[in-house]
Amino acid sequence: MTPDDLQTIVEEITAEMAQEHRRGKVADYIPTLASVSPTQFGMTIIDHEGKCYTAGDADTPFSIQSITKVFTLTMALGAVGDTLWSRVGREPSGSPFNSIVQLESEQGIPRNPFINSGAIIVADVLLANYEPREALGEFIRFMQMVTGDESIMIDEKVAKCEHDTGFRNLALGNYMRAFENIHNPVEETLGTYFHFCALSMSCRQLAMAGRYLMCGGRRHPNTTDTIISRQRTRRILALMMMCGHYDGSGEFAYRVGLPGKSGVGGGILAVAPGIASIAVWSPGLNDQGNSQLGMNALERLVQRTGWSVF
Ligand code: DON
Repeated sequence: MTPDDLQTIVEEITAEMAQEHRRGKVADYIPTLASVSPTQFGMTIIDHEGKCYTAGDADTPFSIQSITKVFTLTMALGAVGDTLWSRVGREPSGSPFNSIVQLESEQGIPRNPFINSGAIIVADVLLANYEPREALGEFIRFMQMVTGDESIMIDEKVAKCEHDTGFRNLALGNYMRAFENIHNPVEETLGTYFHFCALSMSCRQLAMAGRYLMCGGRRHPNTTDTIISRQRTRRILALMMMCGHYDGSGEFAYRVGLPGKSGVGGGILAVAPGIASIAVWSPGLNDQGNSQLGMNALERLVQRTGWSVF
């Protein structure tokens, strides 16, 4: 496929998404997300040579929400290695992203790091040697390093709204603390988790951030700098495939067939290993909290490129 072909495909899909009537429902649990216009759609692909293909609202920043769970998992594996897996599992939950039910019979150990309870454990792990402010500094520096962009920032308004409405997440934190699987004060762990969720990025920045997952752990295609090992990269991609879309993960694997991670801001990061890092964004969500048009767009992309891993 030539670069011209790929740019044409991205533009065609973006034009097709503009015609879609079923656009899903924008997240409304906080005003900062509820006020985002559902008419927007953006898409960026970065290929293995580092070339960037982009269309629509690809430079508009949005709240990446749960997509950060991929990056915080990468950091936690770097910090504590495989001992992480004594505190969080590696199985799909088949439950909504904020569910508490499995924690009761499973001794406060979340099914995986991509549901809220699992990402709260990851935040707790990242606080082991740091004050919350320092852990957030480390996180921002990591995100700036993987994107190569120093303008990446946390949206403090979103972080405050997450905090003001985060009763379920606080319940998850307290419940896991009762099982001694949270090691820091719950408010500190949750404050850190809420700030992670509130990172703002555009599709272009998000696709840049996903390059290390495309390149077997190297920071970008044209370097030997390594973020994580090839083996760990493969394992993170496996988790994205199995758990990246919560109780919609099976549907995403069936329709798209790429490792991917969604967030309630309407973004999806998908990775075609060795081929491309792809970010799509459209704020309207389906019933599982995944971007309706984002998923449609990725399905069309793999139909035209043959990039499904299957
Ligand atoms: O913690 C929460 O519930 C929100 N910040 C949503 C996280 C998220 O994106 C989950 N889902 N798709």
